Amino acid sequence: THPAVVAARARNLPVVRRGELLAEVTRDRRLVAICGSHGKTTTTAMLVTTLRAADFPAGYILGGLSADDGLAPAGSGTNGWVVAEIDESDGTIAQFSPEITVTVNLDWDHPDHYRSLQDLEAAFAGLFARTCGTVLVNSECTRSRTLAGPEALTFGGGGDYEGSLVEETRTTLRLGLGGRFPISTAEVRAGGAFNALNATAALATSHLMGAKLSGGLLAAYPGVLRRQGVLHEGGGLTVIEDYAHHPAEIHALLGSLRGRVSAGGRLLVVFQPHRFSRTARFKSDFAGALALGDAVYLMDVYSAGEPPVDGGSAADLEAECRHLQPDLPVICRPGDPAGLLDELQRELRTGDLVALVGAGDIDQQARRWLDVLHGKSTCEESWDAMAEKLRAQVTAATRISREESLATKTTLRVGGAARIYAEPASLDDLQALLRMAWGLALRVHVLGRGSNLVVPDQGVDGLVISLRQPAWESFEPRPGGRVWAGAGLRLKNLCGLAARAGLVGFEFLEGIPGNVGGALRMNAGAMGGWMFDVVEEVQLVTFDGEVRTLRKEEMHVDYRHCAELHGAIALGALMRPVAQSERESVARQIDVYRDKRQKTQPREPSAGCIFKNPPGDSAGRLIDATGLKGERVGDAEVSTVHGNFIINRGGASGADVIELVRRVRARVEAAQGVKLEPEVLLYGQEWRDVL
Ligand code: EPU
Repeated sequence: THPAVVAARARNLPVVRRGELLAEVTRDRRLVAICGSHGKTTTTAMLVTTLRAADFPAGYILGGLSADDGLAPAGSGTNGWVVAEIDESDGTIAQFSPEITVTVNLDWDHPDHYRSLQDLEAAFAGLFARTCGTVLVNSECTRSRTLAGPEALTFGGGGDYEGSLVEETRTTLRLGLGGRFPISTAEVRAGGAFNALNATAALATSHLMGAKLSGGLLAAYPGVLRRQGVLHEGGGLTVIEDYAHHPAEIHALLGSLRGRVSAGGRLLVVFQPHRFSRTARFKSDFAGALALGDAVYLMDVYSAGEPPVDGGSAADLEAECRHLQPDLPVICRPGDPAGLLDELQRELRTGDLVALVGAGDIDQQARRWLDVLHGKSTCEESWDAMAEKLRAQVTAATRISREESLATKTTLRVGGAARIYAEPASLDDLQALLRMAWGLALRVHVLGRGSNLVVPDQGVDGLVISLRQPAWESFEPRPGGRVWAGAGLRLKNLCGLAARAGLVGFEFLEGIPGNVGGALRMNAGAMGGWMFDVVEEVQLVTFDGEVRTLRKEEMHVDYRHCAELHGAIALGALMRPVAQSERESVARQIDVYRDKRQKTQPREPSAGCIFKNPPGDSAGRLIDATGLKGERVGDAEVSTVHGNFIINRGGASGADVIELVRRVRARVEAAQGVKLEPEVLLYGQEWRDVL
């Protein structure tokens, strides 16, 4: 009934299902099919992360959105391989003939399409038979092992690719690996035993494909949206959303979340059943899985386009829960999801963990609910109260203020204020601030010299931390010709101090109006040089207050991006010069760069280049060629000197700049067919939400 489908049918256009199109586009490639009942999307995303980290340029198509902008939903690849998640739900699985088939597990699901479990098994047996290379199955899944036969390889406990969970911290899993794995341990940024198994499958598949394994490939795994997403953490409450919609998934999820509930807290489950047919078929299994919670808030069934099925309503499931577990509080408010969430809110106690579970539109309802929840806790008085609580944690030398203007702290000079602003005087104070902010569920934003930022006019809701005090500006020689540079040290000073010491390799930093911390976060670059060219180690503090030192090889750095500095603050870096030379020759190179910059870049206030250069081209050239130089919105203007700079003629607002970014982007796309992506950060927001 979708209007696009109706219109296409009326015009006799061919209409194909997703699976059919996917089979078509992967036909001539070496296909790695990830299939099974639970964890396909996560396993696919983990496999893609592994391959990318191992520099193995396979193409891929994800079945979900990564939680990080760094991982696009699909990539074409260059080596003939393509990794894709294959969905069994509508029978299109019959169209695929993979080279490698990975089955994460196999449970009966999709009773709307498969009349019996045997039908579903036959679909998988067919896929295994059409696989020309290797079938890889979960060692603990008897059903898929039987279907795949003795030829198949296994992953997991006691499998050919042996993998087990050795340790789980709040953010990371450590796996012990054996059997055919060429490495003995791996780190995975994820939680839950089921993710340890997904990661084992992903690593085993990478190895089968010929990628070189190492233990850190999944250390920066970004996660997939709607999979154990933490929507809120702090102030005595944790809210998590998850896509689980089959009893086995809910069982695994709630089992793992149980371990995260603090003493005295409860596990409160809000469940939106997905499809009437599934609810009717698996009602008692759902009730059994939901009983792992301390209370269940049942939403109406999300139909996914299905007409109601007898015995498949939320009220039927409610009755089943009461029957199975009479003591379990089950709250159901047919037709009133907002009322249901209001009731949940009234019941909340310190230490509770709320799990919002389902594959329908529960995620959108959850977000609206959280907005209300946050709105209540972020009125003026409570910002004052939070600022007071932060002040109580630190020494008098640390400056904390309310409604601090950010325009004057950025090079573009636009935008509003930080609700709370802090300049910590020491590492102890910084850690104390971060821990308190974590406890208050206060969002933390880091401010360097403000040279790569557009601040929106409404300012930033949260705590802005800037390392501007002298304690952060150190420059110290270290053994072996290295130097230690504090995060607050201005690049101009770093460049000057290095020149005086005759250190070669820092000259490109001349004229970049930032500090070391910001340059690390953005992997700043100019004149062919990059910040991480000269970095050996970075010391950082994570937003929960833990200090860590990472070697460059352990970090994920690319063009204007460093993954480890999302959710962390750089404290400084150990840097190694390219060579040692005469002070005068270093100074001469700096003069050459200064000269070039002064001739090609504007002097007026700006945020540096606005857009990233697209591969093989220059954003400035494209903007120039589109005739946009001099284009204005209010006092924001595309520089006539360099097209990729927006300058502030004096009275520009954040909104002017955002509107000009939007206009330039649209005009360049229309004229040149290239979609430019902003390089500057939109402070406290995401560009994709405003563009
Ligand atoms: N060009 C035009 N018209 C313009 C601007 C540039 O035709 O209005 C042409 C130039 O003639 C040149 C080419 O585009 O042929 C590239 O221009 P440029 O050498 O100025 O370099 P860029 O790619 O525009 C990059 C960095 C700058 C860095 C310079 C110098 C990006 C997005 N920009 O600019 O970085 O200073 O190289 O090395 O990577 C910043 O990131 O904020 C920044 C200023």
